[in-house]
Amino acid sequence: MSVMSAPYLNGKPVSLVSGAGGFLGSHLVDRLLEAGHFVVGIDSFNTGSLDNLDHALSPNNHFILVQADITEDFQLPNLAYDYIWHLASPASPVDYRRLSIETMLVNSNGTGNMLKVALKNRAKFLLASTSEVYGDPLVHPQPEIYWGNVNSVGERACYDESKRFAEALVFEYHRRYSMNIRIVRIFNTYGPRMRIKDGRVVPNFICQALKNEALTVYGSGSQTRSFAFVDDEIEGIFRAMTYENTNGQVINLGNPEEYTVKELASVVAAICSVKLQIKYGDLPPDDPSKRCPDISRAKELLKWYPSVPLKQGIGRTVAYFAGKYSLPI
Ligand SMILES: NC(=O)c1ccc[n+]([C@@H]2O[C@H](COP(=O)([O-])OP(=O)(O)OC[C@H]3O[C@@H](n4cnc5c(N)ncnc54)[C@H](O)[C@@H]3O)[C@@H](O)[C@H]2O)c1
Repeated sequence: MSVMSAPYLNGKPVSLVSGAGGFLGSHLVDRLLEAGHFVVGIDSFNTGSLDNLDHALSPNNHFILVQADITEDFQLPNLAYDYIWHLASPASPVDYRRLSIETMLVNSNGTGNMLKVALKNRAKFLLASTSEVYGDPLVHPQPEIYWGNVNSVGERACYDESKRFAEALVFEYHRRYSMNIRIVRIFNTYGPRMRIKDGRVVPNFICQALKNEALTVYGSGSQTRSFAFVDDEIEGIFRAMTYENTNGQVINLGNPEEYTVKELASVVAAICSVKLQIKYGDLPPDDPSKRCPDISRAKELLKWYPSVPLKQGIGRTVAYFAGKYSLPI
């Protein structure tokens, strides 16, 4: 079958985004369209939502959506793909516990299938990996050379270990086929288009605060996290693929400013103009006590540093949730 070079492509780079209907995938689609790419998105919508792509699907846009599970047989539009952005995978602990085996399969078979598409097209490949590959880290902050501290049979292993497998598989394609690859290890990212019930701490706190309920803190709340606003994260992902010096690199992308979970609760309550009330729950198994990226490599290779301060990012996320779910601010 001949590869389509339709007139509407008009010399545009062609990108394939797996997980295009998800939180990060849909923002990446927007960024790529803005950069003049022709974009094909593929998603099974097991955790994503068509709402996230409504605007991209407008008739004048250069976007095609394929609804399919990438662990199974799927058909793509017959285009010459330049870039494969592999983001498909449940990402929130609530999702990957519910979809534990599916998570392992999308990160193993699904990654294998996306790598085959990249190989056939001689495309550049990016894997969205995660700070979870560091497990409950013994090194702080975490540089890319740290190998991690993961419980391979724990409740988070379906995610942590399958992402570690995905990373290893990507590197074997790099070694065996000289494929042009990079891996970004994404640290906690938040912003508009997260789902209200996705179980991650930012939407949880915001929705509880907007309803003037007590904010649920698991454990003592002294565990730390770093929170990157989605626009910053997407810019880092975009640069990791498009900058020349990233072939074969693993790059942490996250905000190195560290906050305790309790500090985050105070920020959310203040922005929602409610009095801070906290209720405590049990810490989930293998919950990391500290998490903070060393982003020296991203600074050096990508000239990238998160620019949106926490209060501003939380303000924009609160406005999104309040509007979408008609909750009073
Ligand atoms: N958001 C974060 O803070 C964060 C942190 C670390 C890593 N990541 C990584 O970034 C990527 C995107 O995360 P997100 O927060 O946007 O999650 P998300 O759940 O919003 O998006 C994931 C998307 O992948 C799709 N998907 C899942 N399995 C699929 C399959 N078998 N076939 C086709 N589509 C499938 C889902 O339907 C969804 O649209 C994931 O790979 C995740 O591991 C995200």
